[in-house]
Amino acid sequence: MQSIKPAAPIGPAITVNGVEHTMRVDVRTTLLDYLRDHLHLTGTKKGCDHGQCGACTVHVNGRRINACLALAMAHQDDEVTTIEGLGSPERLHPMQAAFVQHDGYQCGYCTAGQIMSAVALLDEPCGTGDAAVRECMSGNLCRCGAYANIVAAIQQVRGEGGK
Ligand code: FES
Ligand code: FES
Repeated sequence: MQSIKPAAPIGPAITVNGVEHTMRVDVRTTLLDYLRDHLHLTGTKKGCDHGQCGACTVHVNGRRINACLALAMAHQDDEVTTIEGLGSPERLHPMQAAFVQHDGYQCGYCTAGQIMSAVALLDEPCGTGDAAVRECMSGNLCRCGAYANIVAAIQQVRGEGGK
């Protein structure tokens, strides 16, 4: 008897944290909602949902974007990294470890976005002084005001040449 193979998934593909997924979502679904509601990657936070707070920052092909302003379907064949793909509790990314070391968070709501921005910043033409770092991080708001410690964490990782 002839075996019947399951049909290959049909649909636009997206790679998230190294795993390829077939997107089956309404074309109006934002990348943020796709990550949180469809893939259950809730580390990426929804703050303003209007591109103003940076809580939803993820990497797409190595560059940071606000996931609330992007449509999932517009990122077909792209590689997305969320905070879950950066490090793990057992093996923190150097930036995650530096945020812990410098108390770069209080409530932590902004933290995933801050860390994703901070990691991307190190590959951008950002000046090295504290003022330049603040400017480059200005799209990420922290309602708790942990800014001084966030800058200290970034500068430490930069100084160590870490990524
Ligand atoms: S939730 Fe995307 S910028 Fe605020
Ligand atoms: S630590 Fe609370 S919003 Fe940043």
